[in-house]
Formats: sequence, C-alpha cells, structure tokens
Amino acid sequence: MKSNRKVLMLPGDGIGPEVMNETKKVINWFDKRREVGFDLDEGLVGGASYDKHKTPLTDEVMDKAFNSDGVLFGAVGGPTYDNLPFSEKPERGLLRLRKELGLFANLRPAIVFDALADASSLKKEIVSGLDIMILRELTGGIYFGEPRGINELPDGSKVGINTEVYSTNEIRRVGDVAFELASKRRGLVHSVEKANVMESGLFWRQEMQKLYEEKYEDLKLEHMYADNCAMQLVRDPHQFDVIVTTNLFGDLLSDISAQLTGSLGMLPSASLGIVNEYGIRKSLFEPVHGSAPDISGQGKANPIAMILSFSMMLRYSLDRIEDANLVEQAVTKALEDGLRTADIMQPGKTLISTEQMGAEICNRLDQLSV
Ligand code: IPM
Ligand code: MG
Repeated sequence: MKSNRKVLMLPGDGIGPEVMNETKKVINWFDKRREVGFDLDEGLVGGASYDKHKTPLTDEVMDKAFNSDGVLFGAVGGPTYDNLPFSEKPERGLLRLRKELGLFANLRPAIVFDALADASSLKKEIVSGLDIMILRELTGGIYFGEPRGINELPDGSKVGINTEVYSTNEIRRVGDVAFELASKRRGLVHSVEKANVMESGLFWRQEMQKLYEEKYEDLKLEHMYADNCAMQLVRDPHQFDVIVTTNLFGDLLSDISAQLTGSLGMLPSASLGIVNEYGIRKSLFEPVHGSAPDISGQGKANPIAMILSFSMMLRYSLDRIEDANLVEQAVTKALEDGLRTADIMQPGKTLISTEQMGAEICNRLDQLSV
C-alpha cells in the first residue's frame, strides 16, 4: 500500500495561488504515477487570511502546519495591506510559521540552467554553469531580536529599534547544516558577516571557526564580510559553493544570487527545522519570489520556482531523491524546448502562460517516465 504524505498548501496572495495551482498538477501527477502518495490540505495565509479572519495566520492553520509532513507556501503581501499595524501585516504570517515551526535553516540554491544562461543581466561567461547554495539563518538575528519597537523618548522624540543577536547554539546548528551541505558538494563554505563593525558578527565568525576546527577540517572554510560578498557575487560568483550567513544578510544576498540566474521566478527555497526525538524535522518550501501584485491574475507568473520548491520537498523532507531529480529534469526539458513565461522570455522562444507551463512540465514528466 502507498504511504501517503500530508502536505499543507498555503497559496497566500498575489501570484501565490496561480503558481500553487500549477504545482498541484505536478503533485497530482506524482500521486497517480509514482510510489509516493499525497494527502493535500489547504489553508489561508497573509492578506487572504487577514481578509477573512483579521489575522495573517489563524491558530487553526498553525496547527495544520504542525501536523503536516511539509508545508508548501506561495507568497504573501500586497499594496492593500501596506498600512496595517505590524502585527497584522501579511508577512507576519510567514514569520510566525518560520519561528513556531523552528525553521532555522533556509536553503536558497541559485542554479543557472544552460537554456537560460543569457537571460541573466550579467554576462553569460560570468554566470553559465553556476550552482551555489545560500544558507540563510532564518529564526534569529535582527528579524526577531529584542528589544524592538518604535519608542517615544522623554523629550517627545522617537527612536526605532531592532536588535541583532546570535547565540552559540544558533550559530552552530546552522553551521552544521552548511558543512553537511558542502560535504556533498564542492567542500567549500563561506561564512558571511560584518565582523569588522558588529560584535554579533565577530562572535558569529569565532563560533564558525571553532565549529570548523572541531568537526570539519577536511572541508574548507573562508570568512567574508557581507558587503564584499555582495560585490564578489556579481564579480565572480563561481568562487562560491555554500554561503552561510545571518537572517538579514541572507535576505539581501539571496536576492542578488537570484538575479544571477536570470529571474526570481526560477528560485525555490527550503526551510528546515531541527530533527526531533522521532527523527522528524519540520519543513516549509517556498519560492524566493514574492506575491508580485503587478502581474497577478494575468497568467504571466512563472510557476517554476514553486514547482522546484516541491522538488526540494521531495529531496530534503520526503527523501525521494529520484522523484526530485525527475521534477528538475522535466523543468530543464521544458526550458530546452524553448518554452518561456514572460519573465524569462527571449527572442525566438515560445511565450506561454502560467497554466501552460504547469501543463507542459507535466507532459515532460510523462515523456521522461515512460
Ligand atoms: C524573503 C522575504 C521575507 C523576508 C518577507 C516576505 C518577510 O523577503 O523570504 O526573502 O524578509 O524574509
Ligand atoms: Mg527577501
């Protein structure tokens, strides 16, 4: 009998539902055609949840997330919600999921598909064949540090405060993931911070170095300042293998690395938690792109980042490596066949809609699995 995996889909706002629909086609394909089966459930998050429940994430959906084998997340946010108080903003729904599921390790691979090497705004020779992994710490640092707030001073003026804070444990656990990833890749880790100006950065550097000397001296560790890393990423990205960094720097650097690949619409991500006493780790998979309200509802969105996020779920959470490879091959084939959504359109290629891309990737799955 097939053992079914419980997957919670949270499409969210903007293009989230559109790209999720196409991913559902791919999941249904696997459900029908491969050994692994899926029980799909769905919930509201972000603005969609706020519209109905006046909160970006209900406790009920949070519980469903806890009880699933993995969460697939679309995107949240949009101009209608810009003026909401902080605690009600769509983004808080995502941040609550990350924090309460304990998803401290955010894997953001940047891979340049051969068929898209000239879609990047950088020269082809700089990006072609690129395969790097940005590992972003996701539940600590300035995103969650206390104190925080906008406070009034006795003289009536105001200050805005956020706090960058990292503990030994937080640094070591994400460091372990970085070295483990590197050991299965090219063996090189760049640890990125601002040790020249921030105590928390210096501490990050010291702890990473200690961890390396204790356990991973067969690999290679380099330390780099975040500003230099941003420059090196656009100058010579091939020098990197795994980059491990803080929550905020990871947010910035992963957007840069996304652009190296030609389009944000191509980039998936995986967020992984600690392994509990039953050997299970919580996980959430989402495209790096946002809700893109300017193109939503027009069939222009690229569903590939969301579909590749499902393939990361197969790889990192469900241990279905062959199935994950199959999804990636189907995407590669669709690109090689010249199929393009608007964001990656090039002269001489065939422009197709979001829905067509989902269907065409399923066709390629059919072709590849005969
Ligand atoms: C990301 C996004 C989020 C972040 C927002 C939507 C909260 O930019 O996942 O990179 O800042 O982490
Ligand atoms: Mg971001």
